[in-house]
Amino acid sequence: MANVAVIGAQWGDEGKGKIVDWLAERADMVVRFQGGHNAGHTLVVGENVYKLSLLPSGIVRGTPSVIGNGVVLDPWALKAEIERLAAQGVTATPETLRIADNCALILPFHRDLDGLREDASGAGKIGTTRRGIGPAYEDKVGRRAIRVCDLAHLDDLGPQLDRLTAHHDALRAGFGEPPIDRDTLVAELRAIADFVLQFARPVWRDLNLAKEAGKRILFEGAQGVLLDIDHGTYPFVTSSNTIAGSAAGGSGLGPAAVGFVLGIAKAYTTRVGSGPFPTELDGDGPDGATGERLGTRGYEFGTVTGRKRRCGWFDAVLVRQSAAVGGITGIALTKIDVLDGFEEVKICTGYRLRGEVIDYYPAHAADQALVEPVYETMPGWQESTAGARSWADLPAQAIKYIRRVEELIRCPVALVSTSPERADTILVRDPFAD
Ligand code: GDP
Ligand code: IMO
Ligand code: MG
Repeated sequence: MANVAVIGAQWGDEGKGKIVDWLAERADMVVRFQGGHNAGHTLVVGENVYKLSLLPSGIVRGTPSVIGNGVVLDPWALKAEIERLAAQGVTATPETLRIADNCALILPFHRDLDGLREDASGAGKIGTTRRGIGPAYEDKVGRRAIRVCDLAHLDDLGPQLDRLTAHHDALRAGFGEPPIDRDTLVAELRAIADFVLQFARPVWRDLNLAKEAGKRILFEGAQGVLLDIDHGTYPFVTSSNTIAGSAAGGSGLGPAAVGFVLGIAKAYTTRVGSGPFPTELDGDGPDGATGERLGTRGYEFGTVTGRKRRCGWFDAVLVRQSAAVGGITGIALTKIDVLDGFEEVKICTGYRLRGEVIDYYPAHAADQALVEPVYETMPGWQESTAGARSWADLPAQAIKYIRRVEELIRCPVALVSTSPERADTILVRDPFAD
C-alpha cells in the first residue's frame, strides 16, 4: 500500500488542490510539507467552491490534516482561513488539524520586507505573493526564526528576539522604516498563541505511528518544480524545495515513506509573477490572441492574488525536466477541456539555442532568454471533453494528444482531469495501488 506525494510539475496552479481532494477520499492523513499561504488551491464540490492557502486540502473531506515542519506558518492567516472555512461548514479542530510544533512562523515584518523589496525592485521584481514567504525562510535558515513551540514560552524569547530584531532593524533602516516595536510584536503573539497552540504537536511522531499502523499518507505539495529554489527558474522562484524529496524532510518521515509521486501538469502552461516562460503566447498578434483564449477558457486568475496568469502551449521539455528532478512516477494531466475547440494544438519538444537544438532548460538567465521553442503541431479536437469521467468519453484526437505528451515527458499519465469538479476525473493508473 503506497503513500502518495502530489507535486506541481510546472509553475504552480496545475490543479493540485482538486487532485489532492479527490485522492483524499482514500487517504488517512493529508500533509502539507513546504510553502505557506502563498499557495492557493481551489476545490469545487457541487455548488461549493473552497479556496485553501495554508490548510491541507484534505480538511474539506474531514480527512485528518497535518501542517508539517517544512511549512512557514502565518498565525493570523491560519486563523482567518479557519474562520473563513468554518463559515462554509468546514471545521478544523485539534482532531482534524495538527500543526508541527517545530514549524517556523511568518511574522508581520516578514510581510513588510517582502513588499518593500518588491516595490524597490522595479522591473526586476520577482512578483512574489507578498506574503512574507522568502523572508521567513531566510530567518529559518539563518537560525533566527520564532517557531510554533516558542508560542508557549513567550516570556523567554529575550535573546532570540534580540538576534531577530537586530537583523531586521538593520534591513528596515535601509528602507527608511522604523525598527520593530518588540512590545507590540510580543503582545500580538500573546493574543494569537493559544489559538495556534491548540493544534500544535510533535507531528513527526503522529506520522511515524500512522506509518507503522499501515495508514495511507497523502503529501500535498504547493507551488511547482519550476518554482523550486534549486531546480526552478532562479531567481524567479519561491523560497522552498517543491520537489517530492521535500515531503520526507518537511514532515519528519524518511524518504522511503513517500511512495508514488504524482506530478500535476496542465495540458498547457501558465505562470503568475515574473520570470522566463519559453512557450508564452503574448503580444498583440495571433499568439497573444491564442494566449488570451487559453486564459479565458481556463479562467486563469490567481487564487491568492487575483493576478492574471500568463498562458502558453505545453512545454514537454520543462515537464520532462520536472519529472526527472522532482522524482515523478506518474502525471495527472489537468484542464484538457480548456483545449477543446482549438483547430490545432502545439507542444514544445526542444529549444533552439545559438543554432543548436537542446533537450533541457539551461540554468543561466541569458541562455534562458535566448532559447526558442521548437514546436510539434497536432490537429485539435472539436468535441467537448468537459466532464468526461472515462477514457472512452474522450475524442480520439485528445487521446492522441495525451499519449504524445506521455511519450515526450517520458512519464505515464495516471489521471486526467476534465473540469474543476471533484468527480470529473479519469483514473488511468491508481497511485495508491502501486
Ligand atoms: P493548485 O494551486 O495547483 O491547486 O491549482 P489552483 O486551484 O490554483 O488552479 C487551478 C484552477 O483550475 C482552479 O480554479 C481549479 O478549480 C481549476 N481546475 C482544476 N482542474 C481542472 C480541469 O480539469 N479543468 C478545468 N477547466 N479547470 C480545472
Ligand atoms: P500554488 O500552490 C503559482 C510564485 C509567485 C512568484 C514566486 C515567488 O497555488 O500552486 P513567493 O510569494 O512564493 O515568494 O513568490 O512564486 N508562486 C506561485 N505561483 N502558484 C503558487 O502556489 C505559487 N506560490 C508562489 O507568483 O512568482
Ligand atoms: Mg494555486
